Amino acid sequence: MDQIHITGGTPLTGTIPIAGAKNACLTLMPATLLTDQPLTLTNAPRLSDIRTMTQLLGSLGAEVSALNEGRVLALSSHDIDTLRADYDIVRKMRASILVLGPMLARFGQAEVSLPGGCAIGARPVDLHLRALEAMGATLDLRDGYVHATAPAGGLRGAVVEFPFVSVGATENALMAATLAVGTTVLKNAAREPEIVDLAQCLRKMGARIEGEGTPTITIEGVTALGGATHPVVTDRIELGTYMLAPAITGGSVELLGGRLDLVAAFAEKLDAAGVSVEETPTGLRVSRKNGRVRAVDVVTEPFPGFPTDLQAQMMALLCTAEGTSVLEERIFENRFMHAPELIRMGARIDVHGGTATVTGVPRLKGAPVMATDLRASVSLILAGLAAEGETVVSRVYHLDRGYERVEEKLGNCGAKIERVRAA
Ligand code: UD1
Repeated sequence: MDQIHITGGTPLTGTIPIAGAKNACLTLMPATLLTDQPLTLTNAPRLSDIRTMTQLLGSLGAEVSALNEGRVLALSSHDIDTLRADYDIVRKMRASILVLGPMLARFGQAEVSLPGGCAIGARPVDLHLRALEAMGATLDLRDGYVHATAPAGGLRGAVVEFPFVSVGATENALMAATLAVGTTVLKNAAREPEIVDLAQCLRKMGARIEGEGTPTITIEGVTALGGATHPVVTDRIELGTYMLAPAITGGSVELLGGRLDLVAAFAEKLDAAGVSVEETPTGLRVSRKNGRVRAVDVVTEPFPGFPTDLQAQMMALLCTAEGTSVLEERIFENRFMHAPELIRMGARIDVHGGTATVTGVPRLKGAPVMATDLRASVSLILAGLAAEGETVVSRVYHLDRGYERVEEKLGNCGAKIERVRAA
């Protein structure tokens, strides 16, 4: 298995281009199932999770062609062969459940295996299922599969009030509602930029949607959707991750395509820690001049709060801050698996339930460490950039799910980082 080797201690300078959002692309791709017309996505990221979704859609009979070296995805669900999403593919990625709503809405039927995904908590899909049931679907959970059937005449518009915010359940319900008969109101909906991006794409396809980006989304069902071409929104998690690189090593890096509105709560914390974030004509510039960063407290929340997907990376920064920081994880249980690995690098971290207390040390020390999930793996890379000596990160297949050419992007800014390929 590949490893990433890093020799820490070099301040970073240069530019890093930010790709299209993995999580937006993973919800835009299943939207192809809503129409028999072509859907073209530009600014697509080149990641193994995108290849998994390509494989899943292909297994249903959809055509997905990667053009322009994978930057453009041309999708067509003109001819669908089966309405069954198989366990062998679904288990690789939790976002696979996003094919359920679109298939059910267009074909009146779907069978989808219950998903797996990152090992960061139980992560059930009950909210997805309840929303579809509210639209009249009959659901039967058998043999690890959800067997879903729409009423004769199709899904019906409904008022769906989510008991708490779920990104995936909002996306599934939103896609299903575009083809339902009548009006659907999603209350306590997720407000993430990926939801806004999905709504904008669906609208180009002919959907009638209002209120995306607010807690209440209203959808008037239409009888059919058409094709569209849509650019995938910037990846705010990749953006935030690379904003942390100069914050942790010192130096100054411009993140090309970066937008402050995508990472406002996160940027406020960087500012409080003493890291400068400035808007430039082409993106965001992050600089840290002299001395250590200051401790800050972080609570993860749905958008527009501090994202759970940046918690592990932020912890890496706070490991070398002056003072004690408290990080509270409110979205997922069991999302501190990076803490024991950071401790192996000399960090002082106490985890109690959903709270981690981090007392900064002047310098981390390089060590062999192991990636446990996608965001944890990149937090170890960030820690390695700042540490004294060599850090070797194993199990980097987690990293490849969500970060494109990480060693090249950081290497171009002066980081001593290389991928050692398994023989
Ligand atoms: C998405 C993102 C993921 C991010 C997360 C929270 C994608 C592909 N993934 O995941 O990177 O960390 O949002 O920002 O976009 N829950 C239930 N029942 C449900 C659905 C969710 O209990 O039916 C719980 C989850 O276990 C979790 C919380 O709700 O504790 C939020 O999960 P959700 O927002 O649904 O995350 P995902 O859409 O899976």
